[in-house]
Amino acid sequence: MTTFEQSCLSGIAAEVLEGLSRPHRALPPKLFYDEQGSALFEQITCLPEYYPTRTEAAILTANADEICSRIGSDVSVSELGAGTATKTRILLNSLVRLQHSVDYFPLDVSHAALQLAKNELNADFETVNVYPHVGDFEDLSFLGTHASPRLVLYIGSSIGNLEQSEAIALLKSVARHLSPGDHLLLGVDLVKDRDVLVAAYDDQAGITAAFNKNLLSRINRELGGNFDTDAFQHVALWNESAARVEMHLESTHTQQVRIDALDQTWSFSRGERIHTENSYKYTVGRLENMMRSGGFEVEHTWTDPQSWFAVSLGVITES
Ligand code: AVJ
Repeated sequence: MTTFEQSCLSGIAAEVLEGLSRPHRALPPKLFYDEQGSALFEQITCLPEYYPTRTEAAILTANADEICSRIGSDVSVSELGAGTATKTRILLNSLVRLQHSVDYFPLDVSHAALQLAKNELNADFETVNVYPHVGDFEDLSFLGTHASPRLVLYIGSSIGNLEQSEAIALLKSVARHLSPGDHLLLGVDLVKDRDVLVAAYDDQAGITAAFNKNLLSRINRELGGNFDTDAFQHVALWNESAARVEMHLESTHTQQVRIDALDQTWSFSRGERIHTENSYKYTVGRLENMMRSGGFEVEHTWTDPQSWFAVSLGVITES
């Protein structure tokens, strides 16, 4: 395949080609979220082992009024990686009592998730106007298109997928689109007992395994691949020195996989892994340092009684 042909491939094709061509194979976690992957992720958020969603929801519920009173009145709300915006409803509930109406701009790679979010918010909130935006975080210019004061939500520990340098670069790029007085609410998962962490990514019911393997099914569907999803095993592990949970797909035997759209065949040896996700875990100190490095002054950080999850509010100050 020539460089020209490569540059003509659709988004996911180019990323799959690049990731599978590496000496240590890897696929970017944003590829999880096609329609089926987004539905599986929704199921994950309800699993008994997957504590992050319900813990963050509890933090937001306990502190929504305080958060909203700290951000001032007449804010518009943007959200990075909004998904179906389930947790956002907790904040919107408080916000609609404080201001006449709320303009809400959710950004997500999943069109299906955003559509669901919009329909459900329209049904339940008369004074919330929803303006969905399909896309990834490479272009954040939509943040600058609506009026200040703004509240940007980046909750759900989505930032955990990024390396530290990428995370700071993303926060800086968010900050660049904001004005003094605008706020960022950032939610991250915290370091905790290894068994709790691993169970959250390797649940009994096998939903996370299905979510991980859906990446292969998606390549089969969209790129004419012939991955045998039974021949790859879901692996979740805690990498303590890097402070991250990793997910991999491990080849159970020597095999060949062909992907028609890439016109290429890959060999996998037994035990060879495709690295599909990093989920970084923070301490409150590292979270607040990251906010500052990203250009925000930290106003307050909330956690749950077990300190399993943290939500931090930052503000842009006059510079
Ligand atoms: C959406 C990135 C926050 O890292 O916990 C859940 C994704 N992966 N189970 C996470 C995920 C496996 C999730 N984030």
